[in-house]
Amino acid sequence: MPSPIRVAILGATGAVGTELLELLASRNFPLADLKLLASPRSAGKTLEFQGEKLPIQVVDGSAFKDCDLVLASAGGSTSKRWAEEITKAGAVMVDNSSAFRMVPEVPLVVPEINPEAAQNHQGIIANPNCTTILMGVAIYPLHQIQPIQRIVVATYQSASGAGAMAMEEVKHQSRDILAGKTPQAEILPYPLAFNLFPHNSPITDNHYCEEEMKMVQETRKIFAAEEIRITATCVRVPVLRAHSEAVNLEFATPFPVDLAKTAIAKAPGVKLVEDWQKNYFPMPIDATGQDDVLVGRIRQDISHPNGLDLWLCGDQIRKGAALNAVQIAELLVERGWL
Ligand code: A2P
Repeated sequence: MPSPIRVAILGATGAVGTELLELLASRNFPLADLKLLASPRSAGKTLEFQGEKLPIQVVDGSAFKDCDLVLASAGGSTSKRWAEEITKAGAVMVDNSSAFRMVPEVPLVVPEINPEAAQNHQGIIANPNCTTILMGVAIYPLHQIQPIQRIVVATYQSASGAGAMAMEEVKHQSRDILAGKTPQAEILPYPLAFNLFPHNSPITDNHYCEEEMKMVQETRKIFAAEEIRITATCVRVPVLRAHSEAVNLEFATPFPVDLAKTAIAKAPGVKLVEDWQKNYFPMPIDATGQDDVLVGRIRQDISHPNGLDLWLCGDQIRKGAALNAVQIAELLVERGWL
């Protein structure tokens, strides 16, 4: 049994923060102390943890002393603002934001794929982008059998990726539309209820949006495979909290469908969900609240002899964010890498 450690959650009141809290409790994480940090907006509020009301503290320079580990999920600018204080205080930061993911010396870790990368951390470990984690756990078992040469992916991303307030906004918009009113968009750029739009992250110089480029760059870093060719189209859809992805994979030689199914069925973190008779495959409502990424519709690509198609759904807040971060924390504790 590893020694209990002192943990702080930065962004404890958010969609991912509250899930982190739930996971630390349900997974019996070895805690010596738990500190909940958020913005001045949350001053005076409390959150329940294992039947106890814990106060939310406003983050400041002294917040990280007496911490061994900080699980950060308060956005990139907040992570950048506090990273130095956290590491100077001697704590390790598992950062859910994109702030440090592509920094060469910062490990970008999915425990089912590259746990060893975490060992070389220098105080910060990055938790990958949600769509990247979900796709990564689903296709890595195939990549281990035969290296993937090219990935073409289209995502169907839920409101949760934009935070708890975006989820509330979609509910309000839905109620307004059903009541015959015009929906308002304040958190997301356009009304999402009964609608969809290409992902709302900034467009980069090559006309891909940042979310799409995260999938390209982060997948290569996690797989340690710079040679994989990847193209992505990311779309926001009016689903509350699980993402879906249509993935086309290309290999050097044909990849038998049965072998792909067997590999996915026995891989950690994924579950094969297919009933071809009933046309039943992974759906966001079934993935919601689940730890595993649901994978199905695995089939031969009829347009390419070396191609495979598959469909996946995964809980964006859980494996796409909070669960992966807690699994990284567990890895650090179990292997003594803190
Ligand atoms: P708060 O609730 O006090 O605003 P989400 O991703 O669901 O939108 O959640 C974002 C989380 O990050 C919330 O817990 C939010 O706290 C926190 N947060 C946002 N800005 C800051 C900040 N400047 N300092 C600390 N926490 C922040």
